[in-house]
Amino acid sequence: MDPITALLAQVLDDIRGDDRGAPASYIPELATVDPDHLAFGVVGPRGRIRSVGDDEVEFTIQSISKPFVLAHVLAQRGLSDVLTRVGAEPSGEPFNAISLEEGTGRPANPMVNAGAIATTGMVPGDDVASRTESVLATLSAFAGRRLRVDEDVYHSESSTGDRNRALAHLMRSYGIIDAPVDLAVETYFRQCSILVTVRDLAVMASTLAFGGVNPVTGDRVVQERVARDVLSIMSSCGMYDFSGEWMLRVGLPAKSGVSGGVLAVAPSQFGVAAFSPRLDEHGNSVRGQAIVETLSDRMGMHLLEPHESISQPIVDVSETSDGRVIRLSGELGFAAAERVLVVLRDLATMAPKDAVLLVDGRELARTHPAAMVALRSELELLPGTIRFVE
Ligand code: DON
Repeated sequence: MDPITALLAQVLDDIRGDDRGAPASYIPELATVDPDHLAFGVVGPRGRIRSVGDDEVEFTIQSISKPFVLAHVLAQRGLSDVLTRVGAEPSGEPFNAISLEEGTGRPANPMVNAGAIATTGMVPGDDVASRTESVLATLSAFAGRRLRVDEDVYHSESSTGDRNRALAHLMRSYGIIDAPVDLAVETYFRQCSILVTVRDLAVMASTLAFGGVNPVTGDRVVQERVARDVLSIMSSCGMYDFSGEWMLRVGLPAKSGVSGGVLAVAPSQFGVAAFSPRLDEHGNSVRGQAIVETLSDRMGMHLLEPHESISQPIVDVSETSDGRVIRLSGELGFAAAERVLVVLRDLATMAPKDAVLLVDGRELARTHPAAMVALRSELELLPGTIRFVE
């Protein structure tokens, strides 16, 4: 077992004994699940899937579909258009709250049921089948394999989904949903009934972690800006009325579902997913949350603690027959440009009068516009001749 998989297995063992909470039962079919299922997976930048526990068990995606359908709709309509029908504010309320903005009928955000139904209502298509197919195609691209709907869970959810139907009727009365209510709601029930494993969810999370490119298939699924927008909303709204404390403790954008899945994203590092059906009072998996929190802690993944890489570019100085070459790689943000300039200033000051310094920036993985402007303009002020190749 490689060291990362061993770490995952250790985390799983550490939380295995926690049997607090109970599986969701308001959707009757979900209550039939084995409550002891437990699984955990991560996917890193090279697309290697590492997973432990019941990683082959399929379960319905439920609310974890919401960020991906949001991505689908954002890609088609753009952020401004989507925000006219659904907000981006944490509601501080349970996921199924009957609560819409005073006057406009706009739901608080796309992660609560009302907002997700409004989002699904924006998926184009003449009937439920074609709308479901376009959602399935996008979720499958995020997962890197063809996904399918669990018909039993769908029927169970549709036959007991009066609260969601009521929300949709209310939103249609405000013009938030244009489509007939059934088109929006039945598509929403079908999207929630899509079957996944913890490995699928980890790949889906990793596609968001790597700016919309699925690291397993290498396919671009959505533009980087869409992935960023989805992660922003997950950061503030993904864990419902626990979202604030989650960000405080774990520091990663995340999304939970009532079947027991939890998905979290460490941008540029990992996609993470966990599965355990027993839920707490917010509708979030008890052990799923514990797994992600433990991993974040042990691997130093909290987004708001200092991450040096953005301010520490790699600077490699070598002597060649053409003179001294300074190779830059990694990420060049504003703080990084300052550090590079300190090194270059020293080298330029020490260099003989007629020497040419070659600064090679072609291996920079990522540059930020303000950093490049600062670097170029400061280079001109240094003594001697400096050539900058980008
Ligand atoms: O609409 C519902 O109630 C379910 N299909 C999804 C809710 C859900 O997953 C909430 N998450 N914790």
